[in-house]
Amino acid sequence: MLLASLRNIIDVAIAGYVRLTNTPPAEVYAAIGTHLAEMAEQHREDEPRIPYDNPLCRLSYLYMHVAATATLANRALKKLNIASDVVRNRGGQVLRVCAMGGGPGSEMLGLVKYFAEDSSVVMPSRLDFIVLDKVPQWGETWTQLAAEGERALAEAAAVRGVSAPAIAPQFYPMDVTSPASYGSYAWLFSNVDLVIFNYLISENLEHLSQLAEALKTVVAAASPDAAFVFIDRKEYFDRINDWLVSILASVGLTSAEGPIMESGTLDLHDKVDRDLGEYPTLIGRKPRLKFFNAGSRTPTAFYLAAKKGSGVSP
Ligand SMILES: C[S@@+](CC[C@H](N)C(=O)[O-])C[C@H]1O[C@@H](n2cnc3c(N)ncnc32)[C@H](O)[C@@H]1O
Repeated sequence: MLLASLRNIIDVAIAGYVRLTNTPPAEVYAAIGTHLAEMAEQHREDEPRIPYDNPLCRLSYLYMHVAATATLANRALKKLNIASDVVRNRGGQVLRVCAMGGGPGSEMLGLVKYFAEDSSVVMPSRLDFIVLDKVPQWGETWTQLAAEGERALAEAAAVRGVSAPAIAPQFYPMDVTSPASYGSYAWLFSNVDLVIFNYLISENLEHLSQLAEALKTVVAAASPDAAFVFIDRKEYFDRINDWLVSILASVGLTSAEGPIMESGTLDLHDKVDRDLGEYPTLIGRKPRLKFFNAGSRTPTAFYLAAKKGSGVSP
């Protein structure tokens, strides 16, 4: 379901780009391949410079990473009780989620996958989903992806004979590591149930103290019941997850669960080969399908959830 949704977005985006710029499709696929190679280089840096404002770079990210980061969001929401309790408790009510550095909105796909695949989870009456990202151009595909998510929810709800929630997508362009940005947006967090940071920390490793300050501001503005979910790269020396655990108490998150290390693959039933058709051949690379290092099989991702208040210590 995940990759099928992405396929629809990629089809429309490539056709639109070809039409608007008169670029032959073969050149578009080649350019996507080049962006992917450059992105892989940049992912080795502490402050990667990735030109997400370039439409073909965003397409590259959609193709290569979104199914993987959506899968990680899905696993985090299912496996971390702090997160799944919030999702389950909002059944039949409005569920409000905010993705920090949400870019294309992968976290929404992960949440939709949870509702679509687990019939024991009662869907909310409406899903308010806010993406905050410093690159405004992500807003372009976000509303389309939200429409795909809404369609997937409608299909799952029809099978169950229940009514499907609408997704209310919102997008605010902002630097989420800048505490000053929150002056205009503090109200946003007052009724958000779930705040998700999915591969945001790893793009801001040179600004960790600033990020911690920003996080403190968000936690202070959030309701006492809000759950915070962090998903990111698990490095060999555990730099990111260790940092996160070390700052939790100082930002006001006194209860936490995890980190859980992820070393699996995408769900087999998401069938990348079928859903992405010819794209892997045309682009020359397969999308990210696994969360372990090829040689050592060590995990490459982790997730952790936290809340204000008392609970299990990390
Ligand atoms: C690796 S992508 C992750 C996107 C999405 N969360 C996912 O998991 O697929 C990192 C995203 O964070 C955004 N980003 C990086 N630094 C940011 C900052 N300081 N403020 C807001 N967004 C930021 C980038 O624009 C990009 O969309």
